[in-house]
Amino acid sequence: MKIKVWAEEIARRHLDPDAIRRTYDRYARVYDGIFGPILNPGRRRAVAAAERAPGLRVLEVGVGTGLSLPLYKSSQVVGIDVSDKMLDQARRRVARLGLTHVEDLRVMDAEAMAFPAQSFDSIVLMHVASVVPHPDRLMVEVRRVLKPGGEALVLNHFWTGRGPMSVVERALAPASNTIGFRPLSLDELISVTPLTFVAEERVNLFGYWSLVRFRRD
Ligand SMILES: C[S@@+](CC[C@H](N)C(=O)[O-])C[C@H]1O[C@@H](n2cnc3c(N)ncnc32)[C@H](O)[C@@H]1O
Repeated sequence: MKIKVWAEEIARRHLDPDAIRRTYDRYARVYDGIFGPILNPGRRRAVAAAERAPGLRVLEVGVGTGLSLPLYKSSQVVGIDVSDKMLDQARRRVARLGLTHVEDLRVMDAEAMAFPAQSFDSIVLMHVASVVPHPDRLMVEVRRVLKPGGEALVLNHFWTGRGPMSVVERALAPASNTIGFRPLSLDELISVTPLTFVAEERVNLFGYWSLVRFRRD
């Protein structure tokens, strides 16, 4: 438990929004090759959960290069990201595949969103909760722009402080700005989220990632 708190503290001290944006600007051209197919099963599960009914308006926070955008079948989708270079890749994908369900792709900080309250039926956060400096501010904003009855779907690897990978994660924590993420535990996420926790489902290779559902009652 002490180790967990220590790792989270280190990572929090080192995450800086400009450094994170620059890191993802640098990743933009190679991102799909590294994080594409391997994480797609989880992306499919998250999109399916977000589309719990037809005709919904969905927000993708930290949409990145838009790997998930072709997976939507029945929703209108808005994507935001702090990295214009990641969004450029997403814009190209939308044009190349003719994804008419994508309403807008905008540079925006998820910790201070420009949308009016209660704008979206579902909000999808894939591999972004451990990337922002303040997960608490992120989740307060998510609640604000989510409609009552709506769901937030958080797909992430969560730090457990156990197993062989936790040693690697602890070693990487001080380099969070360079690698673009920090350790985040599910307990920490739940504790800073002003929404009702619904369920956790293990996804992707070895169940190493989780899809977590929250609801705004
Ligand atoms: C690991 S990538 C995930 C991309 C995509 N969701 C996926 O599943 O592949 C994290 C993304 O979050 C974006 N990001 C980081 N901080 C952000 C913030 N404060 N607001 C919005 N997007 C942010 C990064 O620029 C990057 O594109």
